[in-house]
Amino acid sequence: MASSAAANAPRRTVPAVRSTKVRRGDAPLVMVTAYDAPGARIASEAGVDVILVGDSVAMVVLGYDDTLQVTVEDLAHHTAAVARARPDCLIVGDLPWLSYHVSVPETVHNAAALIRAGAQCVKLEGGRKRVPVIEALVDAEIPVIGHLGLTPQSVHAMGGFRVQAKESEAALQLVADAKALQHAGVFAIVLEGVPDEVARMVTEAVDVPTIGIGAGRHCDGQVLVLHDLLGLEDRHVPKFVRRYASLKDAAVDAVAAFAADVRSGAFPSADESYHLSADEAEALALYGAAH
Ligand code: KIV
Repeated sequence: MASSAAANAPRRTVPAVRSTKVRRGDAPLVMVTAYDAPGARIASEAGVDVILVGDSVAMVVLGYDDTLQVTVEDLAHHTAAVARARPDCLIVGDLPWLSYHVSVPETVHNAAALIRAGAQCVKLEGGRKRVPVIEALVDAEIPVIGHLGLTPQSVHAMGGFRVQAKESEAALQLVADAKALQHAGVFAIVLEGVPDEVARMVTEAVDVPTIGIGAGRHCDGQVLVLHDLLGLEDRHVPKFVRRYASLKDAAVDAVAAFAADVRSGAFPSADESYHLSADEAEALALYGAAH
C-alpha cells in the first residue's frame, strides 16, 4: 500500500497517469484546465496532477459561444504560456476542431505543434472513427488522451450541449468506443456529460483511467474548468460544477475599491510614490525659483 504522501504526489508523467486505476486502490486523478502562466502556477501549487490546456479557452477566456472558433495556433500560444510556468503537472494540449479531421499527416503535424509548444501529450474527441489518427500519433511517440460522451466540438451534430448515452444502445456504443480507443493506444479517456451508471460501465470496461466531467462518481479522476471552480465568472454553470470560491465577486469588490480610491485621491499615497533625494529636490526648487 502506497503511503498517503506518495499517493498524493502529482502524477505528472504519461506512464504514471496510464497506470492509475481507482479499482486497484489508486487515488483519483485530479485534472483542471489552465490557459496561462498564473493558472498553471495555481494548479501546480495546489497539487493538481494534470493540466488540460483545453479548447474551452474559446468560451472561457476568448468569449466565443462554442469551442469551434480556436485554431492550433491559438492552442499552441496558450500551451506555451502554461509550459513557461513550469508547473509540476502533466500538460495536455487539446487538439482543436478540424486539426485532426482532415488527414493523418496533418493530424501528426498539428499535434507536434502542441508538443513543441510545451505539452507532453494531446487530447482529441471522438470514438472509433478516430482510431487511425490515434494510432498514427502513438506511432509518432505522441501520447493521446481520448474524449467521449458530450464532445463539445460536435455541438451542431449533437444539437446542442446535451448529456449523451442516455439510452442503453448508446451506452453500449460508448463502451465499445472506449475499448476501441484503448486498443488504439490512448493512455486515458475523458468522459464528459454521461450518466453516472454509464461512466461506471466504461470505467470497469477499460484498463486506462477515465477522467470525468459531468460523468458522476465512478471515474478514475475528475476534471473541472479552472474558472468555473474558482467562480471567476457568475454566468450559469451546469449542475456538475462545484464552485470552491467566488473570485469574481472578490475581484469586482477589489477593482471598485481601487476606483473609489483613485476618485477620492486616496490612491496613491506618499508611500506608494517615488521621491527625489532631499538634495535633488532642493536643486529643482532652486531651479524653479530662478525661472
Ligand atoms: O476543453 C476543455 O476544457 C475540455 C474539458 C471539458 C474536458 O475538453
